[in-house]
Amino acid sequence: MKLKIRKMHPLFVAEVTGVNITEPLTKEIQSKLQELIDQNGILVFRDQNVTDEQQVAFSRNFGEIEIANNKNNITKQEDRRLSNMFSDISNLNKHDEVHQQESRQRIFNLGNRIWHSDSSFRPNPARYSLLSAREIPAKGGDTQYADMHSPYENLTSTMKNLIADLQCEHSLMYSRARLGMDYFTEQEKEDFKPVLQPLVRTHPATRRKSLFLASHAGRIVDWPVTEAKLLLEELTEIATQREYVYTHQWKRYDLVMWDNRRTMHRATRFEDTKEKRDMRRTTIAGDPA
Ligand code: OGA
Ligand code: MN
Repeated sequence: MKLKIRKMHPLFVAEVTGVNITEPLTKEIQSKLQELIDQNGILVFRDQNVTDEQQVAFSRNFGEIEIANNKNNITKQEDRRLSNMFSDISNLNKHDEVHQQESRQRIFNLGNRIWHSDSSFRPNPARYSLLSAREIPAKGGDTQYADMHSPYENLTSTMKNLIADLQCEHSLMYSRARLGMDYFTEQEKEDFKPVLQPLVRTHPATRRKSLFLASHAGRIVDWPVTEAKLLLEELTEIATQREYVYTHQWKRYDLVMWDNRRTMHRATRFEDTKEKRDMRRTTIAGDPA
């Protein structure tokens, strides 16, 4: 089998064929995939019926796995469906039943439907995410991705100067507050304390700059709250215009890998209190931005 790619969007995203990710990779394939993710920001692999162990093994080719803990989610250890190597992106509880409409976990998970970059609320924001579709709904539940390099490059120089050195506060409490979720326990408030991230970052492999935006960003250091929120809204609107967006329509056993340093993503609507959507994410830990 020969490794081949097909561009799926003019700015980013490539489908990779000719590789079986359920098996160990040769050094050569591993470095080729590293080069492809650096160039394209998102890689799509089809027909990869991976087990959890195989997904973890494949992910480790790209760095260290970020352990999902009480800093990432409101899930209590005893309620987890998956090992802590995984972020559970499904709509299922540990008994494999869909979350009920009023479930606090469901409401928290709905936060994924706002544009974000994974783990920007952690001091070391995520480098890559690898999302495997184990079971998908009949309709809906696409994932949208937005490139963050081009919108930055297309900003006016006035805007580039304005934002050059800004630092934003990111927290899971800020993203959830956008949807009206404003009750957090004392422990959650402690776990979800805001962290600082630069608004503009430079990709270490390509040296291209990008906007580092996310629903989790809720404040700008030294700025009044209202003005900070306005600027973040304005930039997000610019950065998620149609020309920068790719919509992934899932097929069962797709695995999509993305670089959180130069993209944002969001989930879209489906009948989540009726149909199962079993998506499992491994995350590669990053360095401070
Ligand atoms: C994620 C995520 C969106 C989706 O896996 O980090 O936000 O469509 N997923 O499930
Ligand atoms: Mn996400």
